[in-house]
Amino acid sequence: MAKNFETPFVFGVRVEGDNFTDRKEETERLKANFNYGINTILISPRRMGKTSLVDKVCSLVKSDDIKIAHIDAFGCRSEIDFINAFATAVVRATSTKWEEWMENTKVFLSRFVPKISFGQDPLTDFSISLQYNVSNSTTEDVLKLPELIAQANGYRIIVCIDEFQQIGDFNDSLIFQKKLRGIWQLQKHVSYCLYGSKKHMMEKMFQDQSYPFYRFGDLFYLNKISEEDWVAYICERFKITGKHISEGLAHTICTVTDRYSSYVQQLAWHVWLKTKTEVTESDVQYGINRLLDACEPLFIQQTEDLSAYQMNFLHALVNGVHTGFTQSAVLNTYRLGTAANVTRLKKTLVEKDLISLTAPKYMEMCDPILALWLKKRVWKE
Ligand SMILES: Nc1ncnc2c1ncn2[C@@H]1O[C@H](COP(=O)(O)OP(=O)(O)OP(=O)(O)O)[C@@H](O)[C@H]1O
Ligand SMILES: [Mg+2]
Repeated sequence: MAKNFETPFVFGVRVEGDNFTDRKEETERLKANFNYGINTILISPRRMGKTSLVDKVCSLVKSDDIKIAHIDAFGCRSEIDFINAFATAVVRATSTKWEEWMENTKVFLSRFVPKISFGQDPLTDFSISLQYNVSNSTTEDVLKLPELIAQANGYRIIVCIDEFQQIGDFNDSLIFQKKLRGIWQLQKHVSYCLYGSKKHMMEKMFQDQSYPFYRFGDLFYLNKISEEDWVAYICERFKITGKHISEGLAHTICTVTDRYSSYVQQLAWHVWLKTKTEVTESDVQYGINRLLDACEPLFIQQTEDLSAYQMNFLHALVNGVHTGFTQSAVLNTYRLGTAANVTRLKKTLVEKDLISLTAPKYMEMCDPILALWLKKRVWKE
């Protein structure tokens, strides 16, 4: 395929086809959940491959019997935004033409005044927003919509909601979450796939007993793609474009990026660009520097507001301290203040998703390339 020949590595967007590697187990698990109507919660750090995986499985199960509605909650700032996005997605998934859509709206949402706007192709490209009517039943009616449509048409609907943790930031979020769960769990023809990258918030919403979504469905973490699969993938992509990389250097790419999906592809891309025919050690070093250049603006943004104490804490992590932060040697070397201060630092950095507990009492930085950038360019070690 010409397109793949031009770009052997893809990053920053969801991947499909030849650029999608491995994930066999996760694909099977998600596919089974979709086919059997089991709710799923999927958590992973940013850019690990949630959207790619969910989209792939959706394309596998989509049929006349299973319709799929996609919502990206990223831009939703309030309950109203969410309800509009929800209604739009459900109606889109179940109607291919706008006449059909009008019909659905008339039958199922008769109490709303919809506002329709058309995109470039009026037949397939349209969006709706509902004239939000403050009557109490509005939200409930929209939430019940997929079940009603599914039942009436004799099919099932899977509602996929990306960046679901966004809901946690709404005003009166807990009340809203209670409402969602109350309605969703009674639905027989609709199942939900809720995923997000803010690990801290997602875990709170789904694993804390005092939250409405506690034990809502099959929760799993999207693991890293194995070293073996990545090495095979990288070598293959070089090969089909007439270049060669040794398995050893493909391993190096995996190690530097700690197998974070997007970074593996991005680093491989920079190395590929630099290489004429055979990848050398210095091409890989060059690639790493280009990767750091590319990420730098974002990393500056992510760290510029951190306090000196917070930076000191990251410094300790980057230097290989992962436990025992309150020992006096660590407190002194990294100027972390008191033990109580360390507890606070951990809490805020976890909430910012900069660090996370990866094993009992073992803290790590979430982003391996941010860690590398701090080490090489901020502390110049
Ligand atoms: N199965 C895969 N095979 C190869 N590369 C992958 C795979 N999944 C993800 N990637 C790489 O990771 C990048 C991000 O993928 P994707 O957008 O699916 O992740 P995400 O977890 O949804 O990210 P975000 O947190 O930004 O929503 C892709 O552009 C690609 O470079
Ligand atoms: Mg995504």
